[in-house]
Amino acid sequence: MKMVTVLGARPQFIKACMLSRLLQDDDNINEIIVHTGQHYDKNMSDVFFTQLQLPAPDYNLGAGSGSHGKQTAAMMVHLEEVINTEKPDLVLVYGDTNSTLAGSLAASKLHVPVAHVEAGLRSFNKRMPEEINRVVTDHLSTILFAPSQAAVDHLAREGISDGVYQTGDIMYDAVLHYKEKAFHQSDILERLQLEAKDYYLATVHRAENTDEPNRLKNIVKAFQQLDKKVVFPLHPRTKRALEKGNEGTNSNILFIEPLNYLDMLVMESQAKTIFTDSGGIQKEAYMLRTPCITLRKETEWAETVREKWNTLLDPADLSEWRKAVADVNIPHSYPPLFGDGNAAGQIYRIVNNLPFAMS
Ligand code: UD1
Repeated sequence: MKMVTVLGARPQFIKACMLSRLLQDDDNINEIIVHTGQHYDKNMSDVFFTQLQLPAPDYNLGAGSGSHGKQTAAMMVHLEEVINTEKPDLVLVYGDTNSTLAGSLAASKLHVPVAHVEAGLRSFNKRMPEEINRVVTDHLSTILFAPSQAAVDHLAREGISDGVYQTGDIMYDAVLHYKEKAFHQSDILERLQLEAKDYYLATVHRAENTDEPNRLKNIVKAFQQLDKKVVFPLHPRTKRALEKGNEGTNSNILFIEPLNYLDMLVMESQAKTIFTDSGGIQKEAYMLRTPCITLRKETEWAETVREKWNTLLDPADLSEWRKAVADVNIPHSYPPLFGDGNAAGQIYRIVNNLPFAMS
């Protein structure tokens, strides 16, 4: 079995590490790793390959940044070449980024079956590029690895039930695998002079929050009024937007560079509360039992809201801000929303047992 795995953005490196380890150890599987180059800064890409011991990509397509059309098209042109050269039996994609979409489009047009890890997620907001990417990818995929029952149900509602496997969430595997190591190796709390549970952690990178100056201004203003230090690792897009608006220099916000995975796990688990618009960080907050406030109107991870570990807060309307922060507490119940931490093992077994030539 020869397969091409398409990666490109930071969360995909984290998702891939646990599965690639199993695939690369199997002599009967030849996994070719393709990095689209969507994320290219050292601290957005290389550091994850090193820290998570991901094999170096066989191809780096260098697609870089650009409008959605330009970026996705650049990836597709090169992916088509790679697929034509390698002639894989399967193309595996993760999540909902433009790299995911480019991989699934290029492969399916060349009649190569697509396997989608993290299938079936829905925010029901088509203004998000990620929603478009995931809906299209799911409809092009032959094998769909759904992290939760809700994801399986979403697919069923769209008429997709063949080839769907509920495996649990592969990010949970990574959290369980790396948590102890993070506590042993990371000195991030000392470096930033922070006490456990005495700071907030914030990440903001969604276009809907960064590309609307007033919204970002509101968020920063609200952070400035919080009762504890807010540590805010800046995604490059957010950094640029903040520089344009000359935001927040003299405050209790500590702007820092993007964090590596182990430092991030420690920062997430020791924060009093996490503020984020990231999908992955909402999940990691739950996995590490830290309450989360999501700076969006809706979420793909509705289970975490239902279980009261996560609260939605619309950044356009921050009148609810104080109340939301004051209302945060740690729920007693903690159901296993993301499986048993062995999603990679399940996916590996399923991939390994696929009939060689699939239609
Ligand atoms: C992408 C994904 C998003 C995911 C996120 C994780 C899409 C549509 N979005 O968003 O779903 O949650 O990755 O981080 O695929 N940039 C750099 N250096 C880098 C990477 C990006 O400077 O290494 C800058 C570029 O100028 C770019 C901007 O950040 O214009 C946005 O990057 P892009 O990859 O387009 O999307 P993300 O916002 O990272």
